[in-house]
Amino acid sequence: MPKIAPARNESFLEELEHSITELTPYTMISHGALVHLGILTNQVLSQGLPGDLVECGVWRGGASFLMAQILRSQASDKKVWMFDSFQGLPEPTDLDGPQALQYAQSSGSAAYLDNCKADLKEVQDTCESLGLSSVCKIEPGWFEDTLATAKVDQIALLRIDGDWYSSTKVCLELLYDKVVEGGFVVFDDYYTWDGCTRAVNEFLADKSERLEQYGTIAYFQKGTPFLEYSPDGFTSKRSLLDDFKVALAEAEGARIRNADLSRLSKAYDQLNSELLAANKLNTELSRDLYKHQRLYEDLQRSPLAVSLEASAQLRLEMASLRSENDRLTSSDASMRLHVARLMDELASRKTTIETQLSAYNSLVGQSIQLQHELIETKAKAEQATVGLVQEVQRLTQELSFTRGTLSAANRQLNEELKRLNRPWTQKLLRRNGT
Ligand SMILES: C[S@@+](CC[C@H](N)C(=O)[O-])C[C@H]1O[C@@H](n2cnc3c(N)ncnc32)[C@H](O)[C@@H]1O
Repeated sequence: MPKIAPARNESFLEELEHSITELTPYTMISHGALVHLGILTNQVLSQGLPGDLVECGVWRGGASFLMAQILRSQASDKKVWMFDSFQGLPEPTDLDGPQALQYAQSSGSAAYLDNCKADLKEVQDTCESLGLSSVCKIEPGWFEDTLATAKVDQIALLRIDGDWYSSTKVCLELLYDKVVEGGFVVFDDYYTWDGCTRAVNEFLADKSERLEQYGTIAYFQKGTPFLEYSPDGFTSKRSLLDDFKVALAEAEGARIRNADLSRLSKAYDQLNSELLAANKLNTELSRDLYKHQRLYEDLQRSPLAVSLEASAQLRLEMASLRSENDRLTSSDASMRLHVARLMDELASRKTTIETQLSAYNSLVGQSIQLQHELIETKAKAEQATVGLVQEVQRLTQELSFTRGTLSAANRQLNEELKRLNRPWTQKLLRRNGT
């Protein structure tokens, strides 16, 4: 029998994670149980085990679809047989234990899940939408009716997930013989429901295989007893299962590393974005700081600062004014007296000035009157002067004319005289001074 190869194929694990994520809405089993199932399926293929894969109790089909996707991705012609009533669980009996009975009564609880009832049409549609119709064989009906007549001959992997005693027992009784040597039988409910535990224990009681555990999953490999007795002592033939555990551990390690990596990567992204935000904030703060420094400097130079200084100065001045005011207030009474006296004096001066002013005004009036008269007189005098000047000019002309006339007459006379009596005339002339 070939040894189980550890699941070191990282791309297989990546694909498995991807399938699990895609199929989670169609299954109620845990992530760990799905990883376990995926690796078992992979081992079936890598070991080249003959036979198909079977799930009894598929609900919405997620676990079966996971096996089918692995078969398809490795181009296997194996089939996945999907047995389910698609009417939910049968009634539990006392053999299923008190918890199962309690479950059956708690139809209102969230865990009841409509008694694990899935809709056949929906499962068929999902199968088709996933492109798995050619891989999956959906067999609706009660196990008791369908398993015995099912056309599955050999089984490489049998997954039993029917919860109750009767469902588990009938699967083992009708299908165990079809499981090939080295094939795997997996129980989902061995650690969950008493009925399943009871059925498995009863069934294995006269068999050599014993259960292995992975989380809440119980499983065994057909034909591999836990210990084998010989006269030399007990020997273990479970190396295959041990190897398988290593594979699982490695897968789990890879899963944890992946999860760690993605967590670290998320944390890194988060830190990075926080760092970016902090940097941005820092830049903004630096800018603000610079701005405030500039503002502070400006303010120191600003009119406000000057005003502040002036205000301080004013305050000082106000203080001194206040003290001055106090001083003045104290001498207020004498000042008032003094002011009253001054006011009286001012009033009497005002009266005097007003009297003088009215005298002055009347003088000004008289002066104006006189000026007018003067102007009139002056005009008249000028007019008279002009007349006189004209008269003088006329008289002067007359005089000059008369003189001329007289002169001519005188010359005539003189001529006459000269002519008449020169000597006498000469004497007369001397006497007249000419
Ligand atoms: C817990 S669910 C299975 C969960 C499923 N494997 C998954 O991946 O989510 C149990 C299923 O077993 C079916 N079942 C239980 N007993 C049955 C029986 N005797 N015959 C047919 N179906 C049965 C129920 O209809 C139910 O869908």
